[in-house]
Amino acid sequence: MITTPILALEGVSRRYAQGVTALQEVTLQIAPGVSVALRGPSGCGKSTLLHMLCGLDRPSAGRALFNGTQPASAGAWARIRAARIGFVFQAFHLLPMLNAMENVQIPMLGIERNARSRRRRAETLLERVGLAARACHRPGQLSGGECQRVAIARSLANKPDVILADEPTGNLDSQTSAAILGLLADIHKSDGVTLVMATHDATISSFAQRTIHMLDGRLLVLPSAEAVISCTC
Ligand SMILES: Nc1ncnc2c1ncn2[C@@H]1O[C@H](COP(=O)(O)OP(=O)(O)O)[C@@H](O)[C@H]1O
Ligand SMILES: [Mg+2]
Repeated sequence: MITTPILALEGVSRRYAQGVTALQEVTLQIAPGVSVALRGPSGCGKSTLLHMLCGLDRPSAGRALFNGTQPASAGAWARIRAARIGFVFQAFHLLPMLNAMENVQIPMLGIERNARSRRRRAETLLERVGLAARACHRPGQLSGGECQRVAIARSLANKPDVILADEPTGNLDSQTSAAILGLLADIHKSDGVTLVMATHDATISSFAQRTIHMLDGRLLVLPSAEAVISCTC
């Protein structure tokens, strides 16, 4: 049976005005439900690739597809991101004046109209990431690991099909990192969510089913710069 990739890039390049080529003709298909580590040194293009996968940035050449179709506009990508893609950042990007409960509810605002449903879901998600007791704490009152747990709960707010995590443990010590990666792997397994994690750290790869290596804006899959990640891995 042929499965439509949930995420795909076809010959995607990204050149910046200053003459930097961040991605060079990257072709990649990620089947629904797999977990993938995107590994390579700083500056090799990992963040750029993640941004291409979710329409946060546009290719200079080639195209990005979600679930087999090319979204027609930046607005179409924004709707897909809001409803179907969760993003986890290295620096958490929580709003400092809001507590954990409120941060988790932010993505739901345009999607779930019922305030009580939003609160209930946020409570469930904070419980899921082990932070029920910290629901009323603001980011400044939480540790780095706890902030990342809130950010992971936020990424799950709208029951996404995909989580993209950009160096999710880059600001954390090794013990906390292992706990965060374990949490992401657990979410991948139990929810069947597609997980793509960018990292320069070798240890993170062991938490993913597949590792894609990158260097200088290319995927290191020989003989061609192409990787097909099937759902059977
Ligand atoms: N907005 C930008 N303008 C110019 N160059 C950029 C910009 N963003 C990234 N780059 C360059 O593109 C390359 C890839 O960057 P990035 O995708 O952030 O790599 P990584 O996430 O692997 O560290 C780097 O050389 C970086 O300096
Ligand atoms: Mg990066």
